[in-house]
Amino acid sequence: MFILSSCSNTPTQTIKEETKEKDVKVSYISQNNQAFKTIKKKGSSIAIITQVELGKSLKNAMASGGPENAISFCNLDAMRITDSIAKAENVIVKRLAKKNRNVANKMDDFESKIYKQYVMEYLDKKPLKAKVAVNQNSNPVYYKPILTNNMCLTCHGTPGSTMTNELNDKIKELYPDDKAINFEDGQPRGMWAITFANVNVNPKLAQ
Ligand code: HEC
Repeated sequence: MFILSSCSNTPTQTIKEETKEKDVKVSYISQNNQAFKTIKKKGSSIAIITQVELGKSLKNAMASGGPENAISFCNLDAMRITDSIAKAENVIVKRLAKKNRNVANKMDDFESKIYKQYVMEYLDKKPLKAKVAVNQNSNPVYYKPILTNNMCLTCHGTPGSTMTNELNDKIKELYPDDKAINFEDGQPRGMWAITFANVNVNPKLAQ
């Protein structure tokens, strides 16, 4: 919507749209609250299970045909793996990124605002802790940043340096709009968002 309208609109209108993005209100459940602790525990274990499953499949695919094979594998399977875990746990599992590769993992304004806070905390060298926010349906949502390690740079690094140009070309064929390159070791790459759609939070708990 924004991209479409920004082509035909005057610059002033574009600025208004950007201001609107910043105004989204995000309410969090306080870390001292029991509801926070319960959701954090469940969210964290679901994120770990998903991470382990994705990691296992990635390693197998890399072992059987290198990163080029793993790229095609991810293209078909990453969403299927997250969806199947989500179904089993009765939650919605998302691996979101501001610089996304798969458009399905794009952040909306609400998620962007939360992620921006993480990026600021990262730049301030603060510990990146889990957060639990409440969405517009009063469901709790667990968030946790995803950081890169050296291995990730094979597919998310700098083309011609930490990542080969050949692999970058192959990725662009599969994801023409890829933004998920030029990362360095230890940087925030995105975040988990795990929505407990069956749980309703008393709005008084959120601040
Ligand atoms: C073999 C190549 C490869 C490696 C290694 C790799 N990724 Fe990815 N990554 C991909 C592909 C391909 C996608 C798109 C998956 C899809 O279509 O759902 C992706 C998607 C993601 C996403 C979802 C958001 C988005 O941009 O679509 C995150 C987050 C992510 N990767 C983080 C990491 C991290 C962290 C590491 C290291 C621990 C890593 N990746 C290692 C290829 C890779």
